[in-house]
Amino acid sequence: MKNKRLIGIIAGLVVLVVASLIYSSMNKPAAKVEQKIAKVGVLQFVSHPSLDLIYQGIQDGLAEEGYKGDQVKIDFMNSEGDQSKVATMSKQLVANGNDVVVGIATPAAQGLASATKDLPVIMAAITDPIGANLVKDLKKPGGNITGVSDHNPAEQQVELIKTLTPNVKTIGALYSSSEDNSKTQVEEFKAYAEKAGLTVETFAVPSTNEIASTVNVMTSKVDAIWVPIDNTIASAFPTVVSSNQTAKKPIYPSATAMVEAGGLASVVVDQHDLGVATGKMIAKVLKGEKPADTPVNVFSTGKSVINKKLAQELGITIPESVLKEAGQVIE
Ligand code: TRP
Repeated sequence: MKNKRLIGIIAGLVVLVVASLIYSSMNKPAAKVEQKIAKVGVLQFVSHPSLDLIYQGIQDGLAEEGYKGDQVKIDFMNSEGDQSKVATMSKQLVANGNDVVVGIATPAAQGLASATKDLPVIMAAITDPIGANLVKDLKKPGGNITGVSDHNPAEQQVELIKTLTPNVKTIGALYSSSEDNSKTQVEEFKAYAEKAGLTVETFAVPSTNEIASTVNVMTSKVDAIWVPIDNTIASAFPTVVSSNQTAKKPIYPSATAMVEAGGLASVVVDQHDLGVATGKMIAKVLKGEKPADTPVNVFSTGKSVINKKLAQELGITIPESVLKEAGQVIE
């Protein structure tokens, strides 16, 4: 009788202990993986189709690394090409408590760089990070800035120009005098073009307001127009095309969106790929990697994009071999 009671008490105690263990394990906060919501501030310099694609790519790259839905809060701003907005928005993004800030296009990255020396700054598609004074060394950035660079495949562009339009002798380079990303590109392009026996004349515009008149002057002086990876020209590209309507000089821009909008052909870096790579780099930094030790990811090989429809209108025959190798053909 006594034994039975004892067994009963022990059994009762065992049940109690097990139940309390289960209960406490269910309520233990440490059992849940606590993940804090990542806060990413993004400043896009201006709206044009290429930068819009890069921003899309950034979101896709972040999502691939698990930063999607309610795991991430993106604090997005667009300075609409206005330098004073770049400065105020950069300060806001830093003050908003973001874990990392991202600059799409050179002026945006420069604005963020001057707004903070500690918060990680990620460069999205910055053509010349050194020339723009953003990093000192691409392999070892050292400071609070790293990111993705789109180096223009100028040498391949010169080859394409020679192949498609062998009669072109003088090329006008149309670019913005206020963008640090354009200066080195123009020098590089000029060097390759001259090596290939072409003459390059430069036409720098202070803002979109001077594009129409500059193109009018250019068309009377040059055989073709070349445009680097330049935000001012990209954002007003329809003006370049309409100002060239009568002269109909072949235009060789440096982005797919500009070929689609009336350029003849180019060799370009894929914009969405640039964005995805940027998104993945943001994820790395969110996970604790230091910008100082993260090398800049440079994209420098391009694919050709050919506007076959426009070539036909201009009476230019595109060799079969060029069409076969093209990354994209606009029919
Ligand atoms: N690379 C440019 C910069 O450093 C930004 C950019 C990316 C861009 N893709 C583009 C500009 C396409 C014009 C067209 O500012």
